[in-house]
Order: sequence, then C-alpha cells, then structure tokens
Amino acid sequence: MRFRAVKVFHEDGRRASRMVTQGIDDLDPGEVLIKSKYAAVNFKDARAVCGVGNVVKRFPCIPGVEVSGAVAASTSPAFREGDMVTVQGGQEFGIRHDGAYGEYVRVPAAWVGRIPAGMDAFEAVALGLAAYTSAVAVEELIRLGITPDKGSIVVTGATGGCSSFAIDILAGLGYRVVASTGKPGEADYLKAIGAAQVIGRDAIATGPKPLEEQRWAGAIDAVGGAPLDALLRTMKKRGVVCAFGNAAGETFTTSIYPFILRSVSLVGINGNHPVSARGAAWTRMAPGGDLRPRHTHKIAYEIAFDELQAHCDKLIRSGVRGRAVVRMSG
Ligand SMILES: NC(=O)c1ccc[n+]([C@@H]2O[C@H](COP(=O)([O-])OP(=O)(O)OC[C@H]3O[C@@H](n4cnc5c(N)ncnc54)[C@H](OP(=O)(O)O)[C@@H]3O)[C@@H](O)[C@H]2O)c1
Repeated sequence: MRFRAVKVFHEDGRRASRMVTQGIDDLDPGEVLIKSKYAAVNFKDARAVCGVGNVVKRFPCIPGVEVSGAVAASTSPAFREGDMVTVQGGQEFGIRHDGAYGEYVRVPAAWVGRIPAGMDAFEAVALGLAAYTSAVAVEELIRLGITPDKGSIVVTGATGGCSSFAIDILAGLGYRVVASTGKPGEADYLKAIGAAQVIGRDAIATGPKPLEEQRWAGAIDAVGGAPLDALLRTMKKRGVVCAFGNAAGETFTTSIYPFILRSVSLVGINGNHPVSARGAAWTRMAPGGDLRPRHTHKIAYEIAFDELQAHCDKLIRSGVRGRAVVRMSG
C-alpha cells in the first residue's frame, strides 16, 4: 500500500519539506498503525514544515505532532482495529519519530490515547495541544488565587491557536479577558470568542521603570520576549503570569522588582504531554467539563492536506487566525 506524507529532509545544509509517496514499511516502527483522519497545525509544526528552527531532530522525518484517526492494525492488546484514537505531543512524535503528516501513522502504543467520550476525531485535534496548554494555564491561574473578581486577564498573541482557546475558556469561567493582538482587523473575531476588550500588541509595551501602572490580575502569554517583561512590570499585586510561548522571542530581561515588591508570580506552562500522561485539564474540556471551550468551531477550521505547506508558510510569514486542522482522509 502506498500513501502520501509530507517529509522534512536535510539537504545541502538546509532543511526542506516535500510531499512524498511511500509505503508502510518506510514508517518508523510501532505497535499501532493509524489511518489518519485529522492533524493539527501548531506554531512548531509550521516551523518544522518550513524548515525553520530546530524542531525536527532526525532526517528525513515526517513532521506534525498531533493526529487523530482509526486504528488500522495493532499488535498491542490495548488497541483494536477501528478504535478511534489520537496521538499528541511528547518528545519524539514528529521530532525524532515519523509524525502526523502522513495518511498513515505508526507509533508505540504508549503514545496512543483514546478520544475522550463526547469528542470526535476533528475536535480531538482541534482542541489538542493548543486548548490543553491553555487549560493548564487557566488551572494555574485558579490555583494561585486569580478569581474573576481580582481584575482583567490579558492574553497575548490573541489570534493564535493557543491564545484563542485561552480567551474562550477564561470567558466561559466568567473572567474579563483583554486580548492583545498584532491583527487589529480581527477584533470582531476576538470579541466573538469571548474577549471583552481588544488592544494592540504595542499597548502591552510600557514605560522604562521597573514597575509601571498596575493593569492585570493575570496574564496568559504566548509570545515571550520583550512583551513578557512588559507584562511583569504591569501586573497588579499578587498577579500571576502564565507563560507558554516564544512567538516574540526566546529570551527576555526583567528586574527583581515585580517579584519582591508586588509578589508577582511567573509560572511556566508545559502542555507537551502525551495524551496518556495528561492531567485533568484534558478531560475537563470534554462535554460537560468546566474548561470546555464554547467556540471551537469559530477557532478551528479545516484545510486540505494539499494546502498544508502553503498554510505553514503563511503562518510563519504573516500569521494566521485560530487553528488549522488538516483533513488527512475522507
Ligand atoms: N509550552 C508549551 O507546552 C506549548 C504548547 C503549545 C504551544 N506553545 C508555544 O505557544 C506559542 C503559540 O503557539 P500557537 O500554536 O498558538 O501559535 P500561533 O497560532 O502561530 O499563534 C502565535 C501568535 O503569536 C502572535 N505573534 C506571532 N509573532 C509575533 C511576534 N513576533 N511578536 C508578538 N506576537 C507575535 C500572533 O498573534 P497576534 O497576531 O494576535 O498578536 C500569532 O497568532 C508558540 O510559541 C508555541 O511554540 C507552547
């Protein structure tokens, strides 16, 4: 059997991806073979497909870190042909082991999770790492005492996949959400998914002092870099910043003052857990759960497998809105 896959190669000193046709035997080994139905496009997937950065660490390799579909064959007693499953995240899938952007995927059984009751194959990856990471961030805000009465929560990189879900989940819990975006034309979208106010990216920036006007009870930051420093300097007393992204930069400079004079907390969020190792936040997003996003079908949209490379290019060059889900098969 032959099938299509997008594969990243390292040739002539640079990384490049192309669509190939290959056989099942060309896939990395694993107990579970899955006929792919949907795959997600994360920021890091787009970088991998476009050959930017250091996401893929073995060549050639099929990128893509999230897929859902039906088990086509299994040598593991845990899964049977026809089971609807998903593989998401971890340190290997789509990085050192062939990933999601193949019409078939083969992985160790330990990486495979059943799709939670009430979710379908589309929703499992539409939510995926993006909503899960945001839900973990929201859990941390709650754990550290940031209740809706404490004040506004600002979400940076607002139109991105993760941040769109953060806005949706927070608004569903009754928080007043301020969305910070570099795409002012998307204000209507951001309000439709729950933002009470939309501000420009530049409005996060602040004066030069180590501590500036107190604005935010909480922050969910997808961008890192200089905006993260600005957030820290404008948090209210005992404010909490949950940081999970690096879209604006991997490093930032700050001072000790937000921490020792305003008791601000900076919490790093890692949502890159395989489905089988996820905490409660994953199931809290299923139907009836308190962290369930209410606007998944406004945030996530379908693209064809043929459109993947052009979409990734656009995401890297000019940014896209929300979260693309690739239809891998009918
Ligand atoms: N820690 C974890 O476990 C984890 C899990 C998932 C994702 N992430 C990280 O979280 C971030 C968001 O991921 P995603 O998949 O949601 O990506 P995404 O859909 O591409 O969203 C990123 C958003 O950041 C903003 N942005 C892009 N470039 C920027 C720049 N130079 N300066 C300021 N803002 C910029 C844009 O939003 P606006 O135009 O609206 O400003 C963009 O839509 C990425 O850095 C990703 O690597 C981390």
